[in-house]
Amino acid sequence: MCGIIGAIAQRNVVPILIEGLKALEYRGYDSAGIAIIEKGEVRRVRAKGKLVALEEELAKGSCESPMGIGHTRWATHGVPSVNNAHPHACGDFVLVHNGIIENHQLLKRDQSQHHFESETDSEVIVHLLNDLSGQCDGDLFDLVQKGIQKLQGSYALAVMRTTESDSVVVARHGSPLVIGLGVGENFIASDVLALLPVTSRFIYLEDGDVARISTHSIEIVNAEGQKVDREVKESTLEVGCTTRGEYRHFMLKEIFEQPVVIGEALEGRLSNIKVLDPMLLGASGTKIIELTKRVQIVACGTSYHAGLTAKYWFEQWARIPCEVDIASELRYRKPVVSDGTLLVVISQSGETADTLAVLNEAKSMGYVHSMAICNVPESSMVRGADVSLLTRAGPEVGVASTKAFTTQLVVLAMLAVSLGRRFELTSDFEENVVNQLKQLPSAVSQVLALDGRISILAQTLVHKHHALFLGRGPGYPVAMEAALKLKEISYIHAEAYAAGELKHGPLALVDEDMPVIAVMPDDDLLDKVQSNLSEVRARGGRLLVLTDHDHLEEDEYTTVLNIGTVPKLMRPVVFSVALQLLAYHVAVLRGTDVDRPRNLAKSVTVE
Ligand code: F6R
Repeated sequence: MCGIIGAIAQRNVVPILIEGLKALEYRGYDSAGIAIIEKGEVRRVRAKGKLVALEEELAKGSCESPMGIGHTRWATHGVPSVNNAHPHACGDFVLVHNGIIENHQLLKRDQSQHHFESETDSEVIVHLLNDLSGQCDGDLFDLVQKGIQKLQGSYALAVMRTTESDSVVVARHGSPLVIGLGVGENFIASDVLALLPVTSRFIYLEDGDVARISTHSIEIVNAEGQKVDREVKESTLEVGCTTRGEYRHFMLKEIFEQPVVIGEALEGRLSNIKVLDPMLLGASGTKIIELTKRVQIVACGTSYHAGLTAKYWFEQWARIPCEVDIASELRYRKPVVSDGTLLVVISQSGETADTLAVLNEAKSMGYVHSMAICNVPESSMVRGADVSLLTRAGPEVGVASTKAFTTQLVVLAMLAVSLGRRFELTSDFEENVVNQLKQLPSAVSQVLALDGRISILAQTLVHKHHALFLGRGPGYPVAMEAALKLKEISYIHAEAYAAGELKHGPLALVDEDMPVIAVMPDDDLLDKVQSNLSEVRARGGRLLVLTDHDHLEEDEYTTVLNIGTVPKLMRPVVFSVALQLLAYHVAVLRGTDVDRPRNLAKSVTVE
């Protein structure tokens, strides 16, 4: 949802801004721009489209400065265009913004003397600062502190002023912002990934913070205007962690990383027979689950599908009452919260606006304790929750979530066991889950070895306009996730149904042009799914069946993809990997931009 970057140094920062924007492109990529101050004037270079268009624009002339800000945009207000691209400027001021200014129309009414160059909500901020500078004394740092009092919504912003070429001022409320510390130079960005080439030392700003960044100093005030010191943290991420290596796309690289990162997610958290609560949950988490009587999971998109899968585990393995909701729905639904309900938010980024809002409102909604399952250690959710379980998947760059999803499942399985022990989960069952979790890295490698076969199967889908995914039990959320993956990267319309629902409507869609992809694990529901699939065959439908049943026959209507022997309780993980590959290959064959599908962004920090 837009990425911002800024730098102030004793060298030319333009290459730093551009490299940083490349690392932030996952947050939005419909236009980009940078601003520097040149001979006391603001100079902006902006371009519509992906970052490469901005690079082409920059290549037309020289652009050098020891101080600058940059932005990569995901449009919310106004179409992708040069005028709507950030930075926005007014008078002495130039600004980049990530977030949404909810009262921008109201503010605009007071700014009728200004010419608005863009349709964005962000532009009001720069006019506001310009107006304030005429009304009151104070430097840029003071003006930003005053200006943000008038803003409603969310923002991470960075501002420069032509008359103060020794500092960049930033502010944060509801959108992520880090300060990167260098030697005689300092930086700001939406995400540490953007700054790894220049530093590994970071300050994570808190909501309400405003900071003045100069080459040799950082000054931070909190929401009350008091000077504060924020802890400096060393990042363990390495520069190369966001490069594609030998892979054609980040998504493929991330799919193939799954055996390793699943191993990381398990590392140190299991004994031979048990999930080690202190290692998984820490002391406070262990205390919290002692008090838990039921679980409310909240998430969006793929993370929501992880939650739906875990519901089967919580309920079937351990009889733990569990509800799963989409964050944007739960947020406004006024749920009735029973005593002892643990709120579990699941998020790859830890910044998704709707999920974060639920977490922030958890206490007032009646949840006594909250837990975040998250991939980003310094994210807002990890910092806001009472306890957090990290998925340890490493940075995920492809917009379509893959390794973040399967590691969420792995962590949720461990949580189901830890919590389940306090309910009806037996120690034998626990040992069984632990064994199967340990088999997962090799089971996933075995599925990855089917990549060639899956790429051939993908050819049967490439010219289709629609696809139907079916599953039952835990196979149903797996089918939902597979449909989401296919639609978001291949742009084929895909829907998932609980297989038992087929005859209640969607069967009407089935003909030879509607491929039906069935998730059919060799479990108690196999016969049920088989009869649902007969309903498809009888209507001339074409089936692709994913199964670990070893004697499933193919016929003129049915293609079978046998995914081998699978740890039974962990089937959702293994089946999902095969379906990720299927979506990937269909998208590649259709020639879409797999890592940056149209209209999407990875980190959805707006409501
Ligand atoms: C789809 C995908 C999205 C995210 C969703 C929530 O591949 O990645 O559906 O899962 O936007 O994001 P997080 O998990 O960061 O809260």
